[in-house]
Amino acid sequence: MTINKHILLAVSGGIAAYKSAELVRLLRKQGATVRVVMTRSAMQFVSPLTFQALSGHPVHSELLDADEENSMGHINLARWADALIIAPATANTLAKCSHGLADDLLSTLYLAATCPVYIAPAMNQAMWHKPVTQENIQKLKNHGVIVIGPEQGDQACGETGFGRMSEPAEICDRLMAEPTAQCLSGFKVLISAGPTREPLDPVRYITNRSSGKMGYALAKAALKAGAKVTLVSGPVSLAAPAGADVINVETAAQMHVAVIAKAPEHDIYIGAAAVADYSPALMENEKIKKQDSQTTLTLALQKTRDILAEVAQLPNRPFTVGFAAETHDLEQYALDKLARKNLDMIAANWVGRDQGGFDSEQNALQVFWKEGQRTLEMTDKNRLAEQLISLISERMEHERHNKNTA
Ligand code: PMT
Repeated sequence: MTINKHILLAVSGGIAAYKSAELVRLLRKQGATVRVVMTRSAMQFVSPLTFQALSGHPVHSELLDADEENSMGHINLARWADALIIAPATANTLAKCSHGLADDLLSTLYLAATCPVYIAPAMNQAMWHKPVTQENIQKLKNHGVIVIGPEQGDQACGETGFGRMSEPAEICDRLMAEPTAQCLSGFKVLISAGPTREPLDPVRYITNRSSGKMGYALAKAALKAGAKVTLVSGPVSLAAPAGADVINVETAAQMHVAVIAKAPEHDIYIGAAAVADYSPALMENEKIKKQDSQTTLTLALQKTRDILAEVAQLPNRPFTVGFAAETHDLEQYALDKLARKNLDMIAANWVGRDQGGFDSEQNALQVFWKEGQRTLEMTDKNRLAEQLISLISERMEHERHNKNTA
């Protein structure tokens, strides 16, 4: 049961507006407080009275209406919300939001909202596939909006294809799956982040493109969820998350020592670092000199120890979550690592695609565990981290429940 989550539902003008009435009912059943905003065209499809009766609050529709501003002004409405969901979101609403227009209450609220924003598009399949609509959707995703659906199937216009609004139950689940406050209260979380640097000589090293943003975002999300956090960080240029114990390391060997020493006193380990798989077999004490006679140079590398796999072998191991960064066959490699390293969960991300992965502001994750998987859509790394923390807490709760009832 969600404790009084404030959901602001914005309904734009499409036939799927009738499904949003059911969404209000489901959200309230889950314990949420719902307030509804409608565009003028939405009111052509469903009466505001329907939403008023279902939500128990007057419906807002006008931007510049003294009465409505008195009852709750648009800025206050945006501040009030823990989440804004635009359902259905028409092609016109998507276009306005993606371009920052603010010519009615809904689009102004979108601009004023600082909470997570969800949209559930609904439109004719040809309108959905039009390149300009796809560009608008991509833009919104890049801005951190979470897109739910649309689904494929028969449409009200008689055509078949993508464009049906997702079912209210699916939208309700997604909204309620967001991290509840303090879901990791009392837990200790150990996170590794950033790259490692493997020295060749006093001036050179081998490293990778990890910026540490994903791991640091996870540390912040775990702190926000009430956990005590230890962050073992490779060399990055990010500010330490306030409240976390940070252990700075440079090499894979140093990260191994720090993580293995700390893991037994933690409940959860998340390996988000990009640890070198190989490091130079020999670190030269003096700078390696260029030889005029040599056009190539061969370096001997040796395998590093697999920190994640070793944590998973510890007696009384923490709930162990790995990452997988792949350029191809994402699912296959992720499932292989989940089984081979004996993990509780693995979060797989693409490298070099769709602006996600290494050194980007956004990312998307395909998360796998033994009996299931979940897709966390492209969004900014802070929000994605909150979703992953919420999922970890959900899976741990599930396992605890299973153990207690076994
Ligand atoms: O730091 P950012 O710029 O924000 O980018 C984020 C990220 C792409 C680095 C992150 O999301 C990510 O995917 N991290 C893991 C990258 C990686 O090394 O993946 P891998 O598939 O090579 O390793 C699999 C898992 O084993 C990882 O959890 C890794 O931490 C762990 N590992 C690997 C080698 C090793 N010697 N020890 C390990 O613990």
